[in-house]
Amino acid sequence: MEYFLDTADLAEIEKAARALPITGVTTNPSIIKKAGAEDFFGHLKKIQAIIGEDKYLHVQAVAETAEGMVEDAKRIVAELGDHVYVKIPTTAEGLAAMKALKKMGIGVTATVVYTKAQAFLAMEAGADYIAPYFNRMENMGINSDDVISSMAGVIAMNDYNTKILAASFKNAGQVNRAIELGAQSITADPAILMDAIGAIAITDAVDTFLKDWKSLYGDKTIAEM
Ligand code: E4P
Repeated sequence: MEYFLDTADLAEIEKAARALPITGVTTNPSIIKKAGAEDFFGHLKKIQAIIGEDKYLHVQAVAETAEGMVEDAKRIVAELGDHVYVKIPTTAEGLAAMKALKKMGIGVTATVVYTKAQAFLAMEAGADYIAPYFNRMENMGINSDDVISSMAGVIAMNDYNTKILAASFKNAGQVNRAIELGAQSITADPAILMDAIGAIAITDAVDTFLKDWKSLYGDKTIAEM
């Protein structure tokens, strides 16, 4: 499995990256806007400095034509290096850009995926990752579970070298379902992942263990015995 943080908030990334076993950070223009990143590349470089050189950044192209998306992708790679996947919206122009980028050896994440047809075409176009929008599909009455398990089946059947990067989550239950249905990677707001390990029942249990230990041995840790 791979876990990504779907945020550009530097403080959140720093806190979550310390604890969680992450592969990298994903962004889109709305996430960049929310973080108030006026210096686009400067901000992304700060994220790279926090997560480390071995981790990956997914950054979205914004041009409206395939040719423009390819130019965006070239600039992204020139600025941020090769531990980068360029997110390309899965439209007709986007698919044309994906084919061109794969020929150039640039990593591609097919994004804005709401339908199986988009996903299947992105697989054939050579996308390294495909990002189905789990919660947004649910909001539209599309069965996200069915889309993800169908994608996983088609990838396996055709031996495609692509990973499902399930995205757009609103709670940990959705994340769990995507993983169980075959997503090889997920991206979520750090709060969703941190809340899933910080529930009151969990912290209560840890507190009780600590209280029992201290009633026997005081403040000494095992290393200090
Ligand atoms: C990932 O590719 C998407 O940009 C992101 O997860 C969308 O999430 P949202 O539906 O919460 O905006």
